Amino acid sequence: MVRANDGTPVVVDCPEADGFKLTPERLAAAITARTRWVVLNTPGNPTGSAYTPAELHALARVLLEHPQVRVLTDEIYDEIWYRDEDAPSLAAVEPRLSERVFLTNGVSKTYAMTGWRIGYGVGPADLVTAINTLQSQTSSCPSSVSQAAAAAALTGPQDFVRETVRVYRARRDATVKLVNDIPGLSCTVPDGGFYLLVNCQETIGQFTPSGNRIQNDEDFARHLLDSRQVAVIHGAAYGAPGYFRISFATSTDVLTEACARIATACADLSSAPSTVPSV
Ligand SMILES: Cc1ncc(COP(=O)(O)O)c(C=O)c1O
Repeated sequence: MVRANDGTPVVVDCPEADGFKLTPERLAAAITARTRWVVLNTPGNPTGSAYTPAELHALARVLLEHPQVRVLTDEIYDEIWYRDEDAPSLAAVEPRLSERVFLTNGVSKTYAMTGWRIGYGVGPADLVTAINTLQSQTSSCPSSVSQAAAAAALTGPQDFVRETVRVYRARRDATVKLVNDIPGLSCTVPDGGFYLLVNCQETIGQFTPSGNRIQNDEDFARHLLDSRQVAVIHGAAYGAPGYFRISFATSTDVLTEACARIATACADLSSAPSTVPSV
């Protein structure tokens, strides 16, 4: 998206040791005079990590020093959220930044309305005017039917959201435990969203029963798919090599079966090839 708009994307490393989060030090080091936007996703896909108000304050302190930088916050998982207090939002935590923040959200996650294709944004008037100018000459607008459905979702009863999140939380806790019981894999507990980013670094370098060496997370994901018909997304697709992503937005039965199959696929690996590699 950045390249399509003639920008140069700068990906800032957010390692597991930092909770997969951007630190003020890394943010400060990445910003130059040419920086125009910072994109911040919290709670995050694929990690489920979310910033605390104190962490957002620390990032805001850096951003306040760079008035040429605007911030695009992607808060689409703000309701798929497992802590007691509301998910913190940068513009609310630091109102002095609100004129520079463009907050995005949508109905895909909270209301499971992915197919309706409705997202929305809130931001300074000049930016919204520019967005309207572009959008009206490209896609014109989302379909009126989708707009009406999204309005009904946003303004209708919200009780079921809490119930849905309660179910997701139970699935999250069960799946985290199942994954952490598998030798060679580990994951942290996400604060929001419905994904686990699982560390599979110990499996890299091992051999499948057919003698193929697992070179990276993509090979591991393919091993799960080919040998046990379990679909995950390899971490490198998200800039996180050595990890893979599980979605727990499915039934507990399916998750339990999938984790059992992943455990078998891991147990099938060995540190030396047992047969001649297949071609
Ligand atoms: C962090 C994040 N932002 C935005 C989206 C976009 O969702 P949609 O295109 O359905 O509105 C997704 C979907 O996976 C997401 O994970």
